[in-house]
Amino acid sequence: MKLISPNTAYIESYRSALAEFEQSGISGFWYSFGAIDDPEEYVRSIAHYTHRSGASGGAVPASVYWLVDGGEFIGHTSLRHELNPALEQHGGHIGYAIRPSKHRQGYGRAILEFALPIAHSLGIPRALVTCAAGNTASRKIIEKCGGEFLDEVDWQGTTVLRFWVETSQ
Ligand SMILES: CC(C)(COP(=O)(O)OP(=O)(O)OC[C@H]1O[C@@H](n2cnc3c(N)ncnc32)[C@H](O)[C@@H]1OP(=O)(O)O)[C@@H](O)C(=O)NCCC(=O)NCCS
Repeated sequence: MKLISPNTAYIESYRSALAEFEQSGISGFWYSFGAIDDPEEYVRSIAHYTHRSGASGGAVPASVYWLVDGGEFIGHTSLRHELNPALEQHGGHIGYAIRPSKHRQGYGRAILEFALPIAHSLGIPRALVTCAAGNTASRKIIEKCGGEFLDEVDWQGTTVLRFWVETSQ
């Protein structure tokens, strides 16, 4: 199991994962990436992209990494290099998702564990990580990775929990 920059070797597995997310009704940062018309161009463009979050949020530079295991795409994470007002409320520095067929196998915790040192190398000593109050799995992941509860905020009618996570562990 490892975290890699998006790579066309995994594109078919990635496509099937996107179909799983869609069937499960799970939306996330990847929805703005568009169609995979040209896999080479697609992986190049998402490796370093511009994260737009909320009309008032403004754009920030971000990087995507893929969690892969045994030749299969497992999940992805987005590291925002800086925060904007929208990300401060919801989204934070690090977003992640595991394909539904691989849930509850420890991959969620692994992807955040792998992402933290990368955030550190981006100059983020303490990452803001958020989850919806009802997202028990994500809350457990954040807490197991050392997340220190900051507060809860209302974001578009959803209660969002905010945590600080040290990136050098
Ligand atoms: C949240 C998410 C990443 C969890 O991935 P995962 O691979 O299933 O997580 P893990 O297997 O590492 O499980 C972490 C913990 O949550 C628990 N858990 C997992 N799914 C759960 C669920 N549906 N309900 C309650 N607990 C759950 C696990 O048992 C584990 O607990 P433990 O540490 O006490 O053993 C995954 O559900 C997902 O991609 N969801 C959609 C996107 C999302 O919500 N991303 C997070 C946004 S901040």
